[in-house]
Amino acid sequence: KKVVLAYSGGLDTSVILKWLQEHYGCEVVTFTADIGQGEELEPARAKAQRAGVKEIYIEDLREEFVRDFVFPMFRANTLYEGEYLLGTSIARPLIAKRLVEIAAETGADAIAHGATGKGNDQVRFELTAYALNPEIRVIAPWREWELTSREKLMAYAERHGIAIEMKRDGNRSPYSMDANLLHISYEGDELEDPWVEPDPRMWRWTVAPEQAPDQSATIEIAFERGDPVAIDSKRLSPDELLAQLNRIGGANGIGRADIVENRYVGMKSRGCYETPGGTILLKAHRAIESITLDREAAHLKDELMPRYASLIYNGYWFSPERRMLQAAIDETQQRVNGVVRLKLYKGNVMVVGRKSDQSLFDPRIATFEDDAGAYQQADATGFIRLNALRLRVGARRGRI
Ligand code: ARG
Ligand code: SIN
Repeated sequence: KKVVLAYSGGLDTSVILKWLQEHYGCEVVTFTADIGQGEELEPARAKAQRAGVKEIYIEDLREEFVRDFVFPMFRANTLYEGEYLLGTSIARPLIAKRLVEIAAETGADAIAHGATGKGNDQVRFELTAYALNPEIRVIAPWREWELTSREKLMAYAERHGIAIEMKRDGNRSPYSMDANLLHISYEGDELEDPWVEPDPRMWRWTVAPEQAPDQSATIEIAFERGDPVAIDSKRLSPDELLAQLNRIGGANGIGRADIVENRYVGMKSRGCYETPGGTILLKAHRAIESITLDREAAHLKDELMPRYASLIYNGYWFSPERRMLQAAIDETQQRVNGVVRLKLYKGNVMVVGRKSDQSLFDPRIATFEDDAGAYQQADATGFIRLNALRLRVGARRGRI
């Protein structure tokens, strides 16, 4: 028996690795992905080797992550519950997809992950795995083992010589964190009281808006078919582009969120997020759509968006309904081309210009000056009269 483990090299997944070898007596294949979490991957290789792992997969998935998951999601201006940019939710299907593929390559019959039994991540990993391989077996140690507290986990680690190392800055973060090119998230510890403001030292990617420069920064983002392709006329690969927006946004205090969200498993959960690049991108994408999309297409897209957001949050990226909505969304993006100019200032993203060769904005029609017959003001009289008809009928019957 063989199992492919999503392995970060951190304490939790190192304990899981040992536990799988001991408890299931199976051969473990480790899979570690760079999706822009900003951590060295080589230590994970060394640790896996030390644990006796023979097949070690370490992969750079940054470009695929942004091109095939983040950007398609941003075409819909996706927000969960009005606030959450889905940084963790959108990464899980990619990791699970690779786990299933590596299982096929190595002849493994199972995959394993380090998500707990109380969260969304387990659902996302496993729905993806079953959607891509209906016969796959999934092992979720947190739902089965006896290491039910932090203390027991530490004791197990110590017993098996697993290093409980400190982070670079000398102290372990007290939070449950998850990072990739789109965001970094924090949950747990003092955040479990939704009234308590987070310790300012928690934030890692953004300066506090109060500490941001007194001068605004201006950038231009170019779009092609709804996807950003260049910053200030410089073409960048999807992952480079998002990384650069993260840097500029972070330096200007952009993209912090402190929210209470509804998890799919039923509980409310408080989380803090930094999504600087994504926050800029959302605003910019709406601005380019504002001149290139038809009104009714844009409004219908906005109605579908919360559904699309929920299904990504809940783990249904690989599902018939997501593909169906994606096809509709992508169809609207064919002419979403052009450039948006933005100012970034102390946590704010302000659109100050937008242009497109496919613009539907017609200054001859919109102008307050004499429009030389492009729009007949007299037409509005009948337009309003007919739309008011049923209101007048109702009003005559005393219904207001
Ligand atoms: N609550 C967020 C979500 O469900 C973030 C989850 C973070 N996951 C983690 N393992 N720390 O998408
Ligand atoms: C976890 O339980 O692994 C983190 C929280 C979540 O998945 O929502």
